[in-house]
Amino acid sequence: MPTTKRPRTRIKDLLALEQLPVPNDPLVVMGWVKTVRSSGAVAFVQINDGSAFADLQIVVDANCPDYALVQRLTTGCSVRVTGILQESLGRGQRYEILADAVALLGDADPEEYPLQKKRHTLEFLRELAHLRPRTNTFGAMARVRNAMAFGIHQFFQQRGFLYVQTPIITASDAEGAGAMFRVTTLNINDPPTRNGGIDDGQDFFGRPAFLTVSGQLEAEIFAQSMADVYTFGPTFRAENSNTSRHLAEFWMVEPEVAFCDLDGLADLAEDFLRHIFAHALQSCPDDMAFFNRFYDKELIATLESIVAADFERMTYTEAIAALQSSGERFEFPVEWGLDLQSEHERYLTERKVGKPVIVTDYPSSIKAFYMRLNEDTPAHRQTVRAMDVLVPRIGEIIGGSQREERLNILQSRMAEAGLDQAPYWWYLDLRRYGTAPHAGFGLGFERTVQFATGMQNIRDVIAFPRTPRNAEF
Ligand code: 4AD
Ligand code: MG
Repeated sequence: MPTTKRPRTRIKDLLALEQLPVPNDPLVVMGWVKTVRSSGAVAFVQINDGSAFADLQIVVDANCPDYALVQRLTTGCSVRVTGILQESLGRGQRYEILADAVALLGDADPEEYPLQKKRHTLEFLRELAHLRPRTNTFGAMARVRNAMAFGIHQFFQQRGFLYVQTPIITASDAEGAGAMFRVTTLNINDPPTRNGGIDDGQDFFGRPAFLTVSGQLEAEIFAQSMADVYTFGPTFRAENSNTSRHLAEFWMVEPEVAFCDLDGLADLAEDFLRHIFAHALQSCPDDMAFFNRFYDKELIATLESIVAADFERMTYTEAIAALQSSGERFEFPVEWGLDLQSEHERYLTERKVGKPVIVTDYPSSIKAFYMRLNEDTPAHRQTVRAMDVLVPRIGEIIGGSQREERLNILQSRMAEAGLDQAPYWWYLDLRRYGTAPHAGFGLGFERTVQFATGMQNIRDVIAFPRTPRNAEF
C-alpha cells in the first residue's frame, strides 16, 4: 500500500499549521491511543505521539474499512493513521484527521495495561517508570526538562563559554565530604589483601576510584586555560538522604569562570536562572500551563516575576540575624557557625524576601576547602566567599564560590579539613603556575526542574530516580 510509505508527520507540526495545507493530501500520523469513543456511525480516537501536550483527534467514519478495528482499540495501543487534515467542529482542538485507514501496530490488553484513563497518583506512577512518560504529567515533564537542558547550553554558548566534559570516574573527592560511591572490579566476596587490608593496588585503576560528586575540580583546570567554561553531566552522592529534594544520581551544571569574583558570579547565576525559566515558559507554553493548572496555581506568575526582577542578596551573618529576629520557632538551632537547614532557607526566601535570595560569605568551618578565604574577618568568625542561591519551596538550588587561588592558604585550608594533599597535586599545580582569580557554581538540574514545574518530589522530575534502596529500571 503506497500510503504506508508516506513519511510520518508529527502531531506538533500538524497542530502548529496556520491553515490547512494546499493541496490537502493524505497524511500519516502514528502514536498511542489515549481514548476511543464511538457515537452511532462515527468513532473518535485521541492519539498522542509525545511531540506536543495536545492529543490529535482522529475521526473514523463507519464507512472506513477499518471501522471494526477502531472500535476494538483501547488505551495504550499504538496505531498508524492515514487521512486528511480538517478543521475540527468539536471543541478543544483546531484540527483533526478524517481517517482513510487505521492500522493497529501494537495491542495493549485492557485487562492488563496499568495506565487506564483515570488519574493515577504520582507514587503509583513511580513504580511504572517505563510507562509513565505516556501520561500527561510525565510527557510534559520530559519536554520541559529537554527545553531547560537546551536553554542551559544556549545561555552559555551565547556568552562564549566552552562546554567541557569532565570525568564520571574519579580518584579525588571534589567536595572533600566523602559521600562517594566506590567503583571497583575487585571480587568483593574475596578481595585481594595486603598488610591486613584490601589491596587497592590490584583494583582496575591500581587505586581506589569513585563516581564523581562534582566536575568542579576538572572544570577549574579548563577555566585556568580557556577562561569561561561549563560542564553539564551526572553526579553522584552516596548520602543516605531520603528527602523530596535529594537524589543519589542527579545532573549538575557547573560554570567555572576565570578573572571573576563572587559578585560577578552572583550576577551570572541570576542571569542564568532568569534565562532558563524564560526559555521554559516560552518554548513549552502548553506544558507549563498544565503544570500551573494541576500542580501549582502560582507557578507561571512566580516564574514570570523571577524573570522580571533582581534577586535579593545578603550575607550569611545578615541571614542569621534575620532568622534570630524572625520570631519563628525553628526545629533546628540558629546560631552563627551552624549551617542553614532547609527550614531556614525557606524562611529567608519565602517569608523574609519573597523571592530568590543569594546568601554569601558563610563560615569557613561549614564550607568546602576550595572556597576563597575572606581576609578581613576576625579569626573566630572566619568566612569564605561562598554563595548559595535559595528559591521558594526548594531552598538551595545553586551552590558556588570564588575559589582559593593562593597556594599557601589553600594548603592550610586542606590541612584544616584533614585532606591528604597528595591526590590533589594537579589541583595545587594550578596555583603554582599562573594562578588566576576564578569562581564557579553548581546548579542542581533536578531541583531547577522541580522549581519550574511545581513538582513536590524530585523523584518526579527525573526519568529514572536513584534513591536509597531504589534503582529499578
Ligand atoms: O552545593 P553543592 O554540593 O556544590 C558542589 O558540588 C560544587 N562543587 C559546585 C560548584 O561550585 N561547581 O551542589 C550544587 C547543587 C546544589 O545547590 C543542589 O542544587 C544540587 O547541586 N544538589 C543535589 N541535587 C539533588 N540531589 C542531591 N543529593 C544534591 N546535592 C546537591
Ligand atoms: Mg551546597
